[in-house]
Amino acid sequence: MAKKKLNIGLIGCGFMGKAHSNAYLKVGKFFDVPFEPVMKVICDSNAEKAKCFGDNWGWQEVETDWRKMVARKDIDVVDICTPNNTHREISLACAAAGKIMAMEKPLAMDAGEGREMVTAAEKAGKPTMVWFNYRRVPAASLAKQIIDEGKLGRIFHYRAKYLQDYTISPDVPQGGDALWRLDAKVAGSGVTGDLLAHSIDMATWFIGPMARVCAMTETFIKERVMAGGDKKMPVTIDDACAFLARFENGALGTFESTRYACGRKNQNTFEVNGEYGSLAFDLETAHELEYFNHADPISVRGWRTIQTWDSKHPYMKNWWVPGCGIGYEHWHINALADFLESLGSGKKLCPDFRDALGTQIVCDAVLESAKKEKWIAVAKP
Ligand SMILES: NC(=O)c1ccc[n+]([C@@H]2O[C@H](COP(=O)([O-])OP(=O)(O)OC[C@H]3O[C@@H](n4cnc5c(N)ncnc54)[C@H](O)[C@@H]3O)[C@@H](O)[C@H]2O)c1
Repeated sequence: MAKKKLNIGLIGCGFMGKAHSNAYLKVGKFFDVPFEPVMKVICDSNAEKAKCFGDNWGWQEVETDWRKMVARKDIDVVDICTPNNTHREISLACAAAGKIMAMEKPLAMDAGEGREMVTAAEKAGKPTMVWFNYRRVPAASLAKQIIDEGKLGRIFHYRAKYLQDYTISPDVPQGGDALWRLDAKVAGSGVTGDLLAHSIDMATWFIGPMARVCAMTETFIKERVMAGGDKKMPVTIDDACAFLARFENGALGTFESTRYACGRKNQNTFEVNGEYGSLAFDLETAHELEYFNHADPISVRGWRTIQTWDSKHPYMKNWWVPGCGIGYEHWHINALADFLESLGSGKKLCPDFRDALGTQIVCDAVLESAKKEKWIAVAKP
């Protein structure tokens, strides 16, 4: 039976624009989703880039002004893949136009913007989704199932790291394509909003909200050339951040992120310790989930490595035969499949704008704590 078509307008032809375009192309081939996404309009302020990108990925039309695209009656879903300083304005226009929104993380530059966006989106009453795609790694989804089934019992500790190394050289400029992440006026913050947002999202999904945080941040290289020029300007992002958290359920958390961990390209880890067992995950070996079950007979008790590529593991029945793994592109396809499924069933999809606001509030509290050098209470989203 022919599926109902859903017209997509995507803004931003960069890294995420590519990952999402690939997901729209493939989702219907691997998942029996209730809608057929139609790649209707691709938009980027860079006209040449938009044209090449549109041709390459098979978008039907190309636009350079997102306002014109959002105003079109024939666009059902707007997918926002632009730098963080554009999220607020685009999402408010989408809410006013009654669009369904799929937004890249972080939700906003800060929680103030985020609250405004949540209010507008909830008033519009259309579904929203924020692409915290690491939830859709099968091993991470399996960890969530194991925790929800009570197999770890009471949770005592959560430990997360998110490490990269691409800004170690003082010659890396700030601003421009991709390196807008080093410019606080465009990114909002450094590793806190960019990388720790993923770790915070995962932690709160697993074990619930945080109550208080205590953080330290550092900016190792104080001045960098602005992209396209030769003038050095102060760097105002956090290059590194570490924080302690107390969760509302009594668990303790430690979080660390940096772009100065030489040799670490995109290491994203978590470990959860509960009264009956523990779980550990490292994105560098993404198909593996480590599980320790204290109830195992003592003679064979130890950490077991679950290779999450069996058809019984989350998402895997839609992919290859057992033993054939999936990777970065597939996690976005899994996320899109969940999104389309939720649009069909009407069930709330996590994380929506309000869930992502919760993460944004923690990010703000972390940065405030580092600045004031004291514990900060985390407000309610
Ligand atoms: N979920 C993840 O793991 C993940 C990974 C990377 C990036 N992101 C997020 O995705 C978003 C985009 O990041 P990216 O890495 O794809 O960036 P990018 O720099 O690769 O691409 C951004 C694109 O947006 C375009 N653009 C900028 N302003 C625009 C405007 N006003 N109108 C139209 N087009 C505009 C640029 O020309 C560029 O092509 C950010 O919010 C980022 O935090 C998420």
